[in-house]
Amino acid sequence: MKKLDRKLFGDVCCWFKTFISIIVFLLAVAVAVFPFFIYYLTRSIPKLSSELTHRLPTTIIPSNYRLYIDSSQLEQFVFHGTVDIDIQINKIVNEIILNSFDLNITGVKYHQNDTDLFSYGTVEYDNVYEQIRLKFSHRINIGHGRVYLSFKGRINDQLHGFYRTKNHEHIGACTQFEAAYARRAFPCFDEPSFKANFSITIRAPKHLTTLCNMPIKSKHADDNNTYTYEFDSTPIMSTYLVAYVIGHYDYVETRDSDNVLIRVYTPIGKKEQGLFALTTAAKILPFYAEYFGIKYPLSKLDMIAIADFGSGAMENWGLITYRETYLLVDTHISTQKTRQEVALVVAHELAHQWFGNLVTMEWWNDLWLNEDNFASWIEFLAVDHVYPEYDIWTQFVSDTLATCMIPDALQSSHPIEVSIRKPSEIDEIFDDITYGKGSSVIRLLHAYIGNEAFRRGLSNYLAEYAYKNTITDNLWFHLSKASNRTHLSDVLSTWTKQIGYPLLMVNQEQRGNDRLLTIEQTRFLADGTRDDSLKWKIPINICTKSNPNSSVFQLYLNGEKKQEFLLKQVPDTEWIKLNLFSVGIYRVHYPQSMLEALTPGIQNHTLSPQDRFNIQTDVYALARAGHLGYVDYLKLLRYAYKYEDNLTVWKSIIRQLTELSSIFEYAQLNNTKILYQSYVCDLLSNIYNKIGWDALPNEDSQIPMLRSLILIYMGINAYDQTRIEAHKRFENFSMQNNDYHLINPNIRAAIYLTVAKTGNQQTFDQLKSLYLKADTQEERIRLLTALCRFDDEYFQRQALIFIWNTTAVRKQDHLTGFASLAQHNRQGCEMCWTYMQNNWNKIESIYGRHDSHLVHFIETVPGLFISKERAEEVQKFYANYPNPYLERSVKKVLEQIRIRRLVLERHELSINEFLNVQ
Ligand code: BES
Ligand code: ZN
Repeated sequence: MKKLDRKLFGDVCCWFKTFISIIVFLLAVAVAVFPFFIYYLTRSIPKLSSELTHRLPTTIIPSNYRLYIDSSQLEQFVFHGTVDIDIQINKIVNEIILNSFDLNITGVKYHQNDTDLFSYGTVEYDNVYEQIRLKFSHRINIGHGRVYLSFKGRINDQLHGFYRTKNHEHIGACTQFEAAYARRAFPCFDEPSFKANFSITIRAPKHLTTLCNMPIKSKHADDNNTYTYEFDSTPIMSTYLVAYVIGHYDYVETRDSDNVLIRVYTPIGKKEQGLFALTTAAKILPFYAEYFGIKYPLSKLDMIAIADFGSGAMENWGLITYRETYLLVDTHISTQKTRQEVALVVAHELAHQWFGNLVTMEWWNDLWLNEDNFASWIEFLAVDHVYPEYDIWTQFVSDTLATCMIPDALQSSHPIEVSIRKPSEIDEIFDDITYGKGSSVIRLLHAYIGNEAFRRGLSNYLAEYAYKNTITDNLWFHLSKASNRTHLSDVLSTWTKQIGYPLLMVNQEQRGNDRLLTIEQTRFLADGTRDDSLKWKIPINICTKSNPNSSVFQLYLNGEKKQEFLLKQVPDTEWIKLNLFSVGIYRVHYPQSMLEALTPGIQNHTLSPQDRFNIQTDVYALARAGHLGYVDYLKLLRYAYKYEDNLTVWKSIIRQLTELSSIFEYAQLNNTKILYQSYVCDLLSNIYNKIGWDALPNEDSQIPMLRSLILIYMGINAYDQTRIEAHKRFENFSMQNNDYHLINPNIRAAIYLTVAKTGNQQTFDQLKSLYLKADTQEERIRLLTALCRFDDEYFQRQALIFIWNTTAVRKQDHLTGFASLAQHNRQGCEMCWTYMQNNWNKIESIYGRHDSHLVHFIETVPGLFISKERAEEVQKFYANYPNPYLERSVKKVLEQIRIRRLVLERHELSINEFLNVQ
């Protein structure tokens, strides 16, 4: 020991010198590096924070909430409350972090279980991350405890959180918590994986109905004016599913075959309007219970129509909230389309009671697991079961599949499985792609593995993850197991994790009695550019002339770029068609001869409506992308579709023709638009004459919808006969004191829109007064849309003022009017765009900076332009009002404008020539 000391001492001098030189060197390095270090630090802070700090730490887990909300001062738009949360602490901490936003925390206390110790805390607000930090004077130990909070807040007018709603003069309040708005109503651990039980107590004015997720356990009068309701404790569930509503309502009720008490709450005096949804729900709930093999876990289910509602509907467990137009059906005023929509929306939200509520995604990344996967797919299965006469599966292809394939062909699309870092990104992905592609993938999968394996896999999955959280792979696992197909997740991930979908280029060669088929895949892009970097695994079903409605060949493209298949026993007299029933999410480019061979099958309707839909929509998309001429499409329609009579096929054709006419608003040649209108009227004349204006005895339930579609479109295209008849019927209606019985609801929109087009001040005033008097939101929307469809600029200006009249038009409906005006013609669109540019701050403040309405404003209005100048204006607009939430929409709009310009530049001349000589 000593020896060592000495040796050390002997070297001290030399050591000292070395030490000094090292210090000097280190200081020099530090001075040089310091600025870079600071730069690095400041740069990395936002990255770190946005990725991590939006999420709550997992050291503290809530298990039970006792929530008390005092809404007795509802009319002053204020509330206060308390929440006690049982928590488990997994690591010693010195603060508790949870979510809270726009709330004033008035008290903080913590009690560690099995001790007498109560500690009082202070609060730090973090408004960027929507969190609060509860600080205590000492550390919090591992174990169980309870945190007590009291708070105050405002009943806001932003359609989310705890917000106000008004019907006539009746003020009420309700909640909308998905995706991350529960934190605006009470402090909580507001992430889907922090599931807990909720025991909720609400104090509310006596004269109002007060509802919550669970049935009332007790009710007592506090004073002359209020009751306090205690509700049963909920099952373990996520915060975004908590709900309460206070307001004036009537209801109808029934019990389903499993004895669940179902009620539909309607505005006062309109309870009959709840009957359709009630009977629908009473049939669908047991259907799901059986299909999933799990009973609906609560004893009651309330469905309520809320007068002010931002989205369409919300699946809160046991208390589903709806926009009025998605729940109420009036026998005299509602259309068949409304009934069908109500049935689908009810079926969608009921499905969430299992998918979403019972089994919940771990984090919003897997949102598609709730939204598309099941809810948006199984709503069709359920409606088909209850109303087979709707032929709803056929409509799936035009309403769901087609709508997602348009935006998914843009460079600015996104995969349906995306990473979500913070709550504000969640709303961004609630779009047609998420809903439509997800449900189309499920439709494909269901067809691929068959109903029984599919059902078994689902029900095992639900049983395993009931009251828990899950990820997409767990679902694939159960479906693979039930179907004995190990490669399922491999196939599916090419559809869910990749952007876009493929274009299949097909070629055939006759080899004796066999057919050699070559298929090459590339990504289908709407602007026609080629992208060979992505490949899909694609099951393909093929039908033939002699078997047009069954899968004669089942091919599988295993992700290679090009594959050959020898189809046995296909003589040269047979045509073949890929993508039977339009189940696949891809486009097919046939050589001209293969396409021509299919046309008799279209004309004589031996091909199914889905296949007839599929052929023309692919040709349209190929023309739009510049792979074919538009004239090919217009010829195909005239040649093969003139005698078409199916709603789904017409819906698709009309949507496409509408796009083309909106492009021709900018035609270079002055007769293109008029020539095109007469082409359209000629194309539709046969179906127009066939179905007429009035219901025929015993007609199918799709016919009223088809009639409405055709009449509206003929009216828009200035077809003389339609205009004359619409005016005649409208005048008759006016002379009979607007007696609603005089116009069948299914043709009402056609009449209103047609008379508006060429209408004068009297027409405008009449439509406006009908709007103000209308007794249902459905009728009001129809009239608002018509008020925005005048050709005359003078009335368009009046309409624009009316749209933004906040006493006459609800917050959720401004957009409907605005979109109607923008879509009417070029002049309307320009007027709306100017308005948006001048009033964007106002629009943002009405909805909030992270609301999906903003996306729709951006995507519908400037998305209709054509020119480079307008595209520059959109860019400038975004530079003036930057908002990361709208970034994708702006890109999408710019791409859309470019594609529309390309269509006009590439095709107007040839179309004009074709139309001139027809
Ligand atoms: N859970 C959604 C509604 C939602 C999603 C609210 C994201 C807030 C954020 C609900 O199940 C839903 O999908 N509603 C649709 C209607 C539905 C029938 C397609 C909607 O609101 O558009
Ligand atoms: Zn949903």
